[in-house]
Amino acid sequence: MHSDQIVRTFTDYFRERGHELITGGTLLPPPSDPVLFTTSGMHPLTPHLEGRPHPQGRRLISVQRCLRTTDLDEVGDRTHLTVFEMLGSWSLGDYGHEQSLRWGYELLRDGFGIPPERLHVTVFGGDDEVGPDRRSLETWRELGLPVELTREDNWWSHDPVGLCGPDSEIFVWTGGPGTPPQGSPTTDPRWVEVWNHVSMRHRRHEDGTLRPLQQPGVDTGMGLERLVTVLQGHNSVYDSDLFEPWTEQLPSLWTLDDTSTRLVCDHLRSAVVVIGDGVRPSSTGRGHVLRRLIRRVLTTLWRDDPSRTLSDLPGEPLGHTLDHFRQPGGTGRVREVLRDEERRFGRLLERGRRVLARPQYKGPLSDDDYRCLHDTHGLPRDLVTTLRAS
Ligand code: ALA
Repeated sequence: MHSDQIVRTFTDYFRERGHELITGGTLLPPPSDPVLFTTSGMHPLTPHLEGRPHPQGRRLISVQRCLRTTDLDEVGDRTHLTVFEMLGSWSLGDYGHEQSLRWGYELLRDGFGIPPERLHVTVFGGDDEVGPDRRSLETWRELGLPVELTREDNWWSHDPVGLCGPDSEIFVWTGGPGTPPQGSPTTDPRWVEVWNHVSMRHRRHEDGTLRPLQQPGVDTGMGLERLVTVLQGHNSVYDSDLFEPWTEQLPSLWTLDDTSTRLVCDHLRSAVVVIGDGVRPSSTGRGHVLRRLIRRVLTTLWRDDPSRTLSDLPGEPLGHTLDHFRQPGGTGRVREVLRDEERRFGRLLERGRRVLARPQYKGPLSDDDYRCLHDTHGLPRDLVTTLRAS
């Protein structure tokens, strides 16, 4: 199944069951939100899960682009991404969690064709505050799926304070053909989690107490890239069709090791999406995140060959990414931002090398040296470390 077909299968399935597709999907939360970027599908819906009516009704779905910087150091492996998409479904005080689990199972089995033998689920087993999620347990048993009970892994909360609740995660066996499922999600990593169904029915208050919500809801999220990878039988997200124009074109442009190729693909694709949502590089906030992404790409490219330039990027991956994320404006603007930032970073490195060549910076550097390099010469600590190592 092509990724477009996977998305359509998801949206059609829930539309047939009375859900409205929320449009928009920008990475930028509303100005009242203190968070820099949208980090999950439910993020823009928080006020509605807390009880405020939504103009599109009580059954909703979305394909939400998200950005997470918490995993930035993991990017370059086979699974972690900076910008990703989440397929989400919600019941705002409408149907219950059991219904959501039944639909989830049916869509995975009939819509995506995953044999039930390759599915395993986990359920909240209870802790000192909240009892086990018996209804989910019974639902899965009726559906005939193997269930594992856990505590922390099946309690969902976004922040220490706010909405939370027990969840049920659906895992798919990825052991490959001829390898029958073994163990359980907590004992064998070949069980890959694809879909999380949260029974959003509590709120954690500032004083630490947990109180039931007046309007319990359901919040589900399924990472698109991971789902596509599993359904297409790959063991790396970069092998899925979502990355095709990047992974097809970059290796012939720049010869890099596998980890660096993946990092460059992820960061460039993410930078395009962030620029497409109107962010520009800067020294603070969202612009700083964008700057870090572009500069990490440049640092990786220039490690072996300082003559490499983002001006050589072919148009296809840029255009494909903007189209995929439904971002208007064309590739010209994106190229301009990337080139400007490349020039700026190049000048900073030149200056940095000149400053660091001074005799006082030859030996080990003190905290005062780092402060002076930063405050007087605009050279951040990590850049100084990189320059001294090169
Ligand atoms: N909000 C839940 C998650 O992000 C569905 O996993």
